[in-house]
Amino acid sequence: MRDVTPDRSTLEPIEIASRDEIEALQLERLKWSLRHAYSRVPMYRERFEDHGVHPDDLKSLADLARFPFTVKADLREGYPFGLFAVPRERIVRIHASSGTTGKPTVVGYTQRDIDNWAALVARSMRASGTRPGDLVHIAYGYGLFTGGLGAHYGAERMGCTVVPVSGGMTPRQVTLITDFRPKTIMVTPSYMLNILEQFHERGLDPRQCSLEVGIFGAEPWTNAMREEVERAFDMHAVDIYGLSEVMGPGVSNECVETKDGLHVWEDHFYPEIIDPETGVPVADGETGELVLTTLTKEGMPLVRYRTRDLTKLLPGTARSMRRMAKITGRADDMIILRGVNVFPTQIEEQVLATEGLSAHFQLKLYKRGSLDALQVQVETSLGHEARKVEVERALSERIKGTVGVTAEIEVGDPGSVPRSEGKAIRVVDGRSME
Ligand code: DLL
Repeated sequence: MRDVTPDRSTLEPIEIASRDEIEALQLERLKWSLRHAYSRVPMYRERFEDHGVHPDDLKSLADLARFPFTVKADLREGYPFGLFAVPRERIVRIHASSGTTGKPTVVGYTQRDIDNWAALVARSMRASGTRPGDLVHIAYGYGLFTGGLGAHYGAERMGCTVVPVSGGMTPRQVTLITDFRPKTIMVTPSYMLNILEQFHERGLDPRQCSLEVGIFGAEPWTNAMREEVERAFDMHAVDIYGLSEVMGPGVSNECVETKDGLHVWEDHFYPEIIDPETGVPVADGETGELVLTTLTKEGMPLVRYRTRDLTKLLPGTARSMRRMAKITGRADDMIILRGVNVFPTQIEEQVLATEGLSAHFQLKLYKRGSLDALQVQVETSLGHEARKVEVERALSERIKGTVGVTAEIEVGDPGSVPRSEGKAIRVVDGRSME
């Protein structure tokens, strides 16, 4: 793998500013953001008043803990444009998350928000090892989902040649990668595995392809998956995080030189970690739910938004801004099996550690009698079809030994686990169907 560490002279000054400088900027911006939300969004005015707080009460960053949280249901209640802080005419773009249940959550951006977003994705790409002039293949979905267009504007801002492929039509993805020779690919890690499979089906060696950097996000993935993809493509695999409510991709990103968690772009977002049960902030280094406050967003500012994503905050390394550890999972995807909490990422690590299995997996919850049971659907990798019994036992023992639960393992032939073209569906809840 080629060293693609960016030259320090190409970083923005704030990326390597002192903590004091960063915190001073955050406080100034936070005061603006709270005032903006309070004066322009009726929901925030009511919430703050109910809580007995006013934007003027914020004298230090720690005072933010006195303000109320915002949750996804608040966005649904405000559907479609109730949380916008500017007249609708000043909104230049709308995105929405599909939402598995009920109404989608709608977000709006002013021109300045779009500019900031592009700058932050460009910063994320630079941290990942992409350079101006590089050809960038974007296989995140385009449309209301923030992945495609978010990546697109960032790549253009960087001065790259952008190929807006979007997700799907996997054979064509491989043709375009082979013919156009991109250096960077931006895609969900699970879809990258499908692209890998297509390389193999065509008898192409992925290690010989032009890709040097993969910027993977929109779903949880593990360091074990990083190793798998890096080995398969002889490329750097770097993590990008974001959510549509707060902006889209580019809230935080790993630095390719360290790959040690994601630097939160703290000049635009203020991160906190709270105990998900009590809502009380915990110290840096402790795991809990990530809460984000936007510092510069005009169109739809968010105060203390509960992401439901579980992680911890760590000190800066390659940049001065704090890092968040790779996301363990979403609170919504956590399975509780006889009192033991299980995240799909824990299963992913064990699947990848089991020889003879492909990296594809899906979890199914079902009822056995009155108890919840877990089935792990996996498949053998090519050439290992005859080893089903052996790999089933190996994975079962690994899950029992490391995760601490008994799972039923179903080993199919290569290709039997459902594939994704965007975010993988990791958990299928079959409990109500039986
Ligand atoms: O997934 C934005 C995005 C697009 C991020 C492309 C990165 C790349 P939503 O559809 O609103 O937005 O989903 C946001 O996806 O709360 C996390 O649960 C999950 N997620 C996003 N990035 C990561 C990541 C986009 N790097 C939700 N690791 C978030 C783990 C992630 N989970």
